[in-house]
Amino acid sequence: MSSPPTHILLTGATGFIGAHILDALLTHTNLPIRIAVRSPAKGAALLSARPQHTARLSTITIPDFSSPTLDLTPALAGGIDGVIHVASPVTYAITDNEAELIQPAIRGVEAVLAAAAAAGGVKRVVLTSSFAAVLDISRSGGEYTAADWNPITYAEGVAGSPVEAYRASKKFAERAAWEFVGRGGAGFDLVAIAPPMVFGPVVHPVGSVRELNDSAAVLWRAAEGREALPVARVAFWVDVRDLAEAHVQALLRPEAGGKRYLVAAPERFNYALAATIVGEEFEFAKGRVVEGSLVPDQSKSIDGRTAARELGISYRGFRESVVDLVAQISKKQEEGW
Ligand SMILES: NC(=O)c1ccc[n+]([C@@H]2O[C@H](COP(=O)([O-])OP(=O)(O)OC[C@H]3O[C@@H](n4cnc5c(N)ncnc54)[C@H](OP(=O)(O)O)[C@@H]3O)[C@@H](O)[C@H]2O)c1
Repeated sequence: MSSPPTHILLTGATGFIGAHILDALLTHTNLPIRIAVRSPAKGAALLSARPQHTARLSTITIPDFSSPTLDLTPALAGGIDGVIHVASPVTYAITDNEAELIQPAIRGVEAVLAAAAAAGGVKRVVLTSSFAAVLDISRSGGEYTAADWNPITYAEGVAGSPVEAYRASKKFAERAAWEFVGRGGAGFDLVAIAPPMVFGPVVHPVGSVRELNDSAAVLWRAAEGREALPVARVAFWVDVRDLAEAHVQALLRPEAGGKRYLVAAPERFNYALAATIVGEEFEFAKGRVVEGSLVPDQSKSIDGRTAARELGISYRGFRESVVDLVAQISKKQEEGW
């Protein structure tokens, strides 16, 4: 890509991370943005919450990625030249790993890339991957870098727990993207963004705590202190606003083309630390006794520095991320959520 795109397609904007990417695009660019949604009602809610930007925003309804006739050609038609593909199933409440997580994730990526190639004129596709595609659970130390891949096999993802299925879905979806551009002839380059746990306030359409996305819901449960603290599967995290900024820079910076970035704050976290911060900062949690070590797992590290340097982002601290989410949700609960 020699010059930045000028007309953007964004998937997943109705979700936690995608809505922040939408807001970062609105704040940091003046580009027209088309939002691909599977729920027109959610798309409308997203737009009506941003009335000052309606002239730059449009929506297009796309099928669920598990649809047997998945074709995203219409979403890419009409001059789209930059894509941020965020949408992918993020749930552990499944009964069929392959049908509900792994295949929709892969097919969504393949459909976006095929439609982008068919459209012609697309310069850059930014893909939201995950640290789940990088993590190696057998590893005991050292630093994770963008060169690392989760060794999980497709078969292990299909037969494993929902968490393993999610990891496989992200690994094989990202692999499919690199293989697609690796075959040549796509006409665009690819940037993959791999964040670990993502925290921070919510800007997508959510009507109640029950509708919160998975990572925010887990953090809120830790903040409420009504049940045993969850165990952090990894100690790495990033604030959703920093992650959104990384996506926008990955779209706009020509030199990012062909790269894979781990976007992660230098600080580690665990849920005891989150609950302690909530106890220190919020009246409703004052005096609460927090069980568990306040020292997050330090056995491994992650290279979030390369993304910070090459994409020009600086990472928020964990306290800010926790406080901003908990303040928002507790206020909404007072308003009758
Ligand atoms: N949250 C994290 O901690 C985290 C960490 C690393 C990577 N990620 C990645 O970041 C991306 C967004 O995650 P998120 O936390 O924002 O999740 P989210 O709030 O659940 O949003 C998921 C988005 O994907 C769409 N989607 C889900 N399944 C779909 C399907 N089968 N067909 C079409 N669209 C589908 C959703 O549409 P609806 O609004 O219609 O449901 C929504 O827009 C995902 O690729 C995820 O793997 C998340």
